[in-house]
Amino acid sequence: MKNAFNRKEEKLWKLYDGLFKIGAAVDEDKLPQYDDLLDNFNSLSPENQMKPCIIHPEKDVFDFAAADSLVNYAKEHSKAVRGHTLIWHNQNPDWIFNDKEAAYTSSDYVKIMENHIGTIMDRYRDSVFSWDVVNEILSDGNELLRDTNWKNAIGDTYVEKALCFAREANPKAELFINDYNIEYGEKSDKAIEYITSLKNKGVPIDGFGIQGHYRIYFPPLEEIRNFFRKLSKLDVKVQITELDVSMYRYEDNTRLAEPSIIMIDKQRYYYEELFKIYKEYRDIIGSVTFWGVADDYTWLDDFPVENRKDWPLLFDVNHKRKPAFDSICKLVC
Ligand code: XIL
Repeated sequence: MKNAFNRKEEKLWKLYDGLFKIGAAVDEDKLPQYDDLLDNFNSLSPENQMKPCIIHPEKDVFDFAAADSLVNYAKEHSKAVRGHTLIWHNQNPDWIFNDKEAAYTSSDYVKIMENHIGTIMDRYRDSVFSWDVVNEILSDGNELLRDTNWKNAIGDTYVEKALCFAREANPKAELFINDYNIEYGEKSDKAIEYITSLKNKGVPIDGFGIQGHYRIYFPPLEEIRNFFRKLSKLDVKVQITELDVSMYRYEDNTRLAEPSIIMIDKQRYYYEELFKIYKEYRDIIGSVTFWGVADDYTWLDDFPVENRKDWPLLFDVNHKRKPAFDSICKLVC
């Protein structure tokens, strides 16, 4: 029986060892800033370094420097690495879709995709255990797939092609479709139907990356539990890939100087209930990754409202454990 969550030396990943990996996204230049906390995680995700604009700046140029630094740090500290992300509509270099003179055809784009996926996955074949092969591909509206440059260039089969190239590049890596808001509403049905159809067609896919950008108010935890119940009946794996719990409603324009005690407690409750669900469905969950390390830096400081300080993580701005941290530790003690 583990009963040591309040001991300073106890690390979050160790408490969850045997259930699923505990990860954090971090940019390679922030590794020193979080040196005191990274011991809590046994998996790292590059917050930006593997995105196409950084890793593939020109058609014939790959720049692996930043991604290599993160991967080497992970190796030195015995941590796993999730690959994020190969094919996305955001953070692409200009040469792919904005070079008018290049006038790439659809088959050029297939070759570009194959080369992009193949080169990156090959470089990290022994160091990255799972990949977000495609990111945010499902439409928020009525259509199945989001309207993106990749879809316009290749057609709806771009997702299947990307997954096939990924499996070819590294048959050992786990391959995910990573998306947000798939836990509830119509997007949830769409997600389940889509992955089922891919599997029926024999497309190589291991499961869903669930981003997990939540708020202390939303979505209802019961919806999340329902989604896991449905997933557990399919033959799919799940990784929670970008977890954070914002203190604000989505487009709330107020800017707080700090969160209230009530908000901090709501956040504790939300995290605790989430981790109860994750424990319950541990058989299908391989890893739970937070999108950041501590509240002194989070992408939510500028999204979806610019310059709105947020506090969505388990450690506060001074790197101290928040009530949410203690609560999720207690669940496994
Ligand atoms: C975000 C990063 O955190 C920011 O630093 C960057 O400026 C924009 O992208 N969904 C994703 C992530 O899949 O890649 C995004 O990361 C956050 C939303």
